[in-house]
Amino acid sequence: MIEAQKYFKEQGYVVLENFVPSPLINFIYEYSLLRTQLLAYKTSTKSGLENYNGNWDGNFDDTKGNFGSKAVNFYGDPLTETLMIKSLEDIQNHTGLELVPTYSFLRLYQEGDTMIKHEDRDSCEISVTICLGYSDNIWPIYLENRQGESIEVPQKPGDALIYSGCELPHWRDKLKKGHHSQTFIHYNRKNKTNNNFRDGRPHFGVPKEI
Ligand SMILES: [Fe+2]
Repeated sequence: MIEAQKYFKEQGYVVLENFVPSPLINFIYEYSLLRTQLLAYKTSTKSGLENYNGNWDGNFDDTKGNFGSKAVNFYGDPLTETLMIKSLEDIQNHTGLELVPTYSFLRLYQEGDTMIKHEDRDSCEISVTICLGYSDNIWPIYLENRQGESIEVPQKPGDALIYSGCELPHWRDKLKKGHHSQTFIHYNRKNKTNNNFRDGRPHFGVPKEI
């Protein structure tokens, strides 16, 4: 734990294998597939479309292509929000920082998706990206470290990468085959002036725009 804190302080990121134990990660992975199927159903049926609201039900590209992705997106899903809240102490222990939760995101990438090199917005000051599962092969995420070098992080289900999202550029190459499910849980440092507790929302689990 102390080593993780030291590494994070020096490098601005730290890799944690098996951060979420196998039964739980499999549960969340299966859940992400079902949510994706529900979204597909809702947006392809007349009755579903009549009641569809992308902010609550998820959407196919809430980044409007900014990240080079057509991935399926769920902002603030109650399950991933719970993971974010319950992981707070662990993430504080691994970073040595006092934190507040901001928001979570669930994303299912599809074949052909990429993630262009970018840094995150303020609410993602401390980002934790966790691999839930995939259909075919490991699909690494890349970081540019403080020395300007590219770091490849291959993740298995349950592995987490904690990184300074607003500081370190990160990206993915094209997903060649199948799908890949990932969740992101985000935190801000406590008592910081741009503290985005709950990402400014009135409650955990609700969309950013309601
Ligand atoms: Fe990002």
